[in-house]
Amino acid sequence: MTKLERPDAPLIAALEKARIHPLWDRYQRITPMAPKAVDEPMHWRWGDIAPFTARAAKEVGIEDVERRALILANPAFGGATVTTQNLIGAFTVLEPGDRAVPHRHTAAAIRFATRAEGAVTIVNGRRCEMHEGDLVLTPPMCWHGHINEGKRRTVWFDAANMPAICNLDVSFFEPGKRQDERFWEVGTEGSGEYRFAWQDAVRGLAPAPDGSLTYRYTKDGRSVMPTLDLFLKRVGKTRQARSTCSAVCLVVSGEGRSKVGERAFEWSQHDVFTIPHWTWASHEGNGDLFMVTDRAIYERLELLREEIR
Ligand SMILES: [Fe+2]
Repeated sequence: MTKLERPDAPLIAALEKARIHPLWDRYQRITPMAPKAVDEPMHWRWGDIAPFTARAAKEVGIEDVERRALILANPAFGGATVTTQNLIGAFTVLEPGDRAVPHRHTAAAIRFATRAEGAVTIVNGRRCEMHEGDLVLTPPMCWHGHINEGKRRTVWFDAANMPAICNLDVSFFEPGKRQDERFWEVGTEGSGEYRFAWQDAVRGLAPAPDGSLTYRYTKDGRSVMPTLDLFLKRVGKTRQARSTCSAVCLVVSGEGRSKVGERAFEWSQHDVFTIPHWTWASHEGNGDLFMVTDRAIYERLELLREEIR
């Protein structure tokens, strides 16, 4: 039986040949009813990541690379180096004495100190120490480099929005000089502009609509950067929430489980998992989650939708 041809088929064929598309036969593809994340939620266990941090430290010299970073990549993005939609999450490793060369870029980035005692990040001439739980911001086009001044290997969690910046094709990157001693000779300790101490975040925890205690890292009452919005969530048992923004979650401490979409994750310290956009997520346990989100982008573009049930 031959497929019945729609009456406008000759017109559609002629239009397509003329590089013109009719709206009427494809409007559901052009204007989806709701967002649909291409990525399944993903979970990386620290126990699986840790051996690779040790290997990278031994097998890769810091003088040979821009950053000794291990980026968590969701295969849903077809081999691209993407953790979820607009964000990447990673762990960076420095051996004692290692210096990660200064550079700057339009992507916004953050570091959260997991095992980084002794490491220091220098941002625009400000020295930011990285004690456990501290957050350091490297806003767009701020010069930044890292040094391990301690006696032990340091590892910290990084996140950045390279995927968003690259999708908009606005990535600019300026390498610094490897032998620029002046960069490291920083007199200014005043790091308040770029560093959030762990204790201050914990003191700021307050009841949130999802049932958790949540702290939003802010600057002048807004997200810390125009494209990144950061949260600390102390989980007991939360209601289900979803948002048009996506999140990369680092387990700061404790143990628990999260239901994200159809997936269930049992997590413990320094695991990382994702909450893709418009995906229901709830958390249960006894732990602190540090959440990096692209919420600020959607808020500023008036495209933010958030639901709790
Ligand atoms: Fe960077």
